[in-house]
Amino acid sequence: MKAPIAVALDLPTLAEVTALASKLNHLVEMMKIGLQSYLRDGAAGVFQVKEAAPDADIFLDLKLHDIPQTVAGAVKSVAALSPKVLTVHASGGEAMLSAAVSAGPQIEIAAVTILTSLTQPDLATFTPWQIEDVVAKLAKQSTDAGCKAIVCSPQEVKLVRSVVPGEIKLIVPGIRLGAEPADDQKRVATPKSAIDDGADILVIGRLLTSSLDPKLEIQRILNSLDGS
Ligand code: C5P
Repeated sequence: MKAPIAVALDLPTLAEVTALASKLNHLVEMMKIGLQSYLRDGAAGVFQVKEAAPDADIFLDLKLHDIPQTVAGAVKSVAALSPKVLTVHASGGEAMLSAAVSAGPQIEIAAVTILTSLTQPDLATFTPWQIEDVVAKLAKQSTDAGCKAIVCSPQEVKLVRSVVPGEIKLIVPGIRLGAEPADDQKRVATPKSAIDDGADILVIGRLLTSSLDPKLEIQRILNSLDGS
């Protein structure tokens, strides 16, 4: 069985990206191509990742955030790469979310709620609202607009599960095994806690990209899911 993981291929060269993708091809569900890789390697990079990891789905994490027409055009621009999942920022508003969904009916549009790198004091610089309230509102608005997936922190999985339909996929970054530093990620939790709360896909980057043995790391993560 494949691990419910999207590998964040955030690496400095395309050669490193394809090497990791090829190594983990049959072990994980998705390869996530984010801004670092996509802005450097473009569509050609996506095709190379597909070649390197033919058994994994492509997750294009471009976090689109613009006026509806521009986002719709951007979704159409990447549709030829046939990503399974494409991200937009939920805070772009209902019209933008609907435009993204209409422009890519064959793509699972995933709405990013509040970045896992932000804390309540960060939010307080522009809104008096609590993170949980904003996340719940954005998640509900996004799925009402037709988004098939929500990206949220592992600390809000239960909350999001309670406000969106059961078939909505919850994609969860900010995953840490506990011992290692959280780096720029602030609202973190372990793989087990995220999955137990209802996450469908764990987004994992540095745990794998900085490991000398990423296959072993996947096994460690899977083992941690079995523990009580
Ligand atoms: O290295 P790490 O496991 O923290 O990587 C997390 C990945 O998830 C990065 O590629 C980052 O862009 C992405 N991501 C995130 N927070 C979100 C959405 C995506 O960290 N809200």
